[in-house]
Amino acid sequence: IQVLLICGGGGSEHDVSLRTADFIQRELAKSPGIQLTRVTMDSAGRLQDAEGTLRELRSDKLLYSASGAAQPVDYVIPAIHGYPGETGDLQSQLEILGLPYYGCGPEASKICFNKITTKLWLSALGIDNTPYQFLCANTAEETAKARDALKLWGEVFVKASSQGSSVGCYKVSDEAALESALQEAFTLSPYVLVEKCLKVRELEVAAYTYEGELVITAPGEVCAPSDTFYSYDEKYAEGSRALTHVVAEGLSEAQLGWIDAASRRAFVGLQLEDLSRIDFFLTESGEIYLNEVNTFPGMTPISMFPKMLQNHGHDFCAYLTALIRRAV
Ligand code: ADP
Ligand code: DAL
Ligand code: MG
Repeated sequence: IQVLLICGGGGSEHDVSLRTADFIQRELAKSPGIQLTRVTMDSAGRLQDAEGTLRELRSDKLLYSASGAAQPVDYVIPAIHGYPGETGDLQSQLEILGLPYYGCGPEASKICFNKITTKLWLSALGIDNTPYQFLCANTAEETAKARDALKLWGEVFVKASSQGSSVGCYKVSDEAALESALQEAFTLSPYVLVEKCLKVRELEVAAYTYEGELVITAPGEVCAPSDTFYSYDEKYAEGSRALTHVVAEGLSEAQLGWIDAASRRAFVGLQLEDLSRIDFFLTESGEIYLNEVNTFPGMTPISMFPKMLQNHGHDFCAYLTALIRRAV
């Protein structure tokens, strides 16, 4: 089976995607019968292989190189965080080509990558999510709404609507910081949300299909240092002080049950496929909110999705190989 692994992409998480692709490549190298070709997408959408040769995937489902040589493609792994992978654009192209691929379809990807549509869908599904104010333009009127939100909540998170890995997320507690966070967020996404800042434990589950059945793992936990939040640097920079626990400790049966039920409702209701990581906030007073659904979660050395899957007793290589064999 000829598998095409596409990584990189034109978004702010290009480099994170390369680390995710390293993991997938290493895992699939253990799978006899799978021949993997890895290509990196640049910001112009061009694909380049490991030798730096430009490649092109065409409608005859062949991957061409500049010399005209071509190889068949049976299955695609769009290992891109953010544009144009997690945003669903690449998945739309693969649907048009009729090529099977790993992960969620275009619509679920698009809904979940946008923090505002995610919240609208979660509310429609009856799943609690963090209180927020939606800003649809960088205007004085919309900024006034953000100021009101800051007054009401005292501390807020300003978030560009369509980014990941904490890019475009700012913790803000005064008006001057609010102003600059809004300016920056609007350069990254056309919509912005201002969310109530909560004192939280951050819990995550791996949600994936294994032999046709939906698996929701026990929640793991990420712990950012108390003087900051789980920012891009605390996720990936050398010297990060964040800690991760593959199983969160001290949760009650009721809390575990709530998280499992909400994850199932989200996976089914949003029509997710193959995999997602679903992230929750548990407040000091015991409320649980679904924060976000990551349709192509990170698989870097610090990332939780592969660790939670493996801790649940599933081997990542066997899991992905089985999905590929079912699809082709
Ligand atoms: P991303 O999609 O970039 O991961 P998140 O919405 O998960 O964006 O926010 C990134 C991080 O910011 C979270 O992991 C958490 O540490 C912090 N954070 C986000 N929203 C809140 C909130 N409402 N209250 C407290 N912390 C938050
Ligand atoms: N967006 C990053 C890769 C994650 O959530 O894991
Ligand atoms: Mg997050």
